[in-house]
Amino acid sequence: MQRLRDRVAVITGAGSGIGLATAHRFAEEGARVVCADVDAEAGAKAATEVGGLFVRADVTSDDDVARMYQTAFDTYGSVDIAFNNAGISPPDDDSILETGIDAWRRVQEVNLTSVYLCCKHVIPYMRRQGKGSIINTASFVAVMGSATSQISYTASKGGVLAMSRELGVQFAREGIRVNALCPGPVNTPLLRELFAKDPERAQRRLVHVPVGRFAEAAEIAAAVAFLASDDASFITGSEFLVDGGISSAYVTPL
Ligand SMILES: NC(=O)c1ccc[n+]([C@@H]2O[C@H](COP(=O)([O-])OP(=O)(O)OC[C@H]3O[C@@H](n4cnc5c(N)ncnc54)[C@H](O)[C@@H]3O)[C@@H](O)[C@H]2O)c1
Repeated sequence: MQRLRDRVAVITGAGSGIGLATAHRFAEEGARVVCADVDAEAGAKAATEVGGLFVRADVTSDDDVARMYQTAFDTYGSVDIAFNNAGISPPDDDSILETGIDAWRRVQEVNLTSVYLCCKHVIPYMRRQGKGSIINTASFVAVMGSATSQISYTASKGGVLAMSRELGVQFAREGIRVNALCPGPVNTPLLRELFAKDPERAQRRLVHVPVGRFAEAAEIAAAVAFLASDDASFITGSEFLVDGGISSAYVTPL
């Protein structure tokens, strides 16, 4: 499919995981891909793989984010798609009883303030064009509670969800769609390593997934490509769950 032919897409956190899989999918669908990451090695590798452009950017920096979209526009002449995906879930973000203020603030900066900055800087380009699709990565934890808490992460994703909804409504009549992507747990190297060490911990989570497995990054990327494309032309302000049914489940199949 070539649904994104000649569209210019900026992906934050393109060096790894969901961002990397989406960079590949966007390129396959014909987009010109700008791969942004704070990790220069991983980001540059991703850009090379997809024949795109690498921009080093720390998404917590106002200047970096502004420069990222300016570079995309100067190079390719438009900014049509913004996939605001960079995020962290560090181990010092844990139960509210254990999580210190510095850990709390760091996660809010990278996961939530970043999305504020990305939307703030990309929307003016899209307003001038009279079109654009913004996809902000939230998480299924924005819609359901977990006893294995990462309190700042969860709160940050709730913020992304509410902000995306509001922006989707505010800019709907200017041709700009804004959706929150809510992935379920994804089979990433980090998750595999964690669960290989602790099968009980893996099982405790897997039992809640109706489809009985974690997502592959490519399955999340497929949903992002759909939201980015005109196939999703009537979808905005949505809480777009790609979670294997977790958020609908009470009793799961044996
Ligand atoms: N993996 C999951 O199970 C899962 C589930 C739901 C939501 N998410 C969300 O999806 C997004 C991507 O997750 P992933 O698993 O692919 O992560 P990942 O760790 O594989 O990749 C994240 C990328 O973001 C980059 N990054 C980190 N901080 C940055 C910063 N300050 N500025 C610019 N880039 C930065 C990293 O260098 C890395 O390349 C995150 O927002 C995450 O919260 C992940």
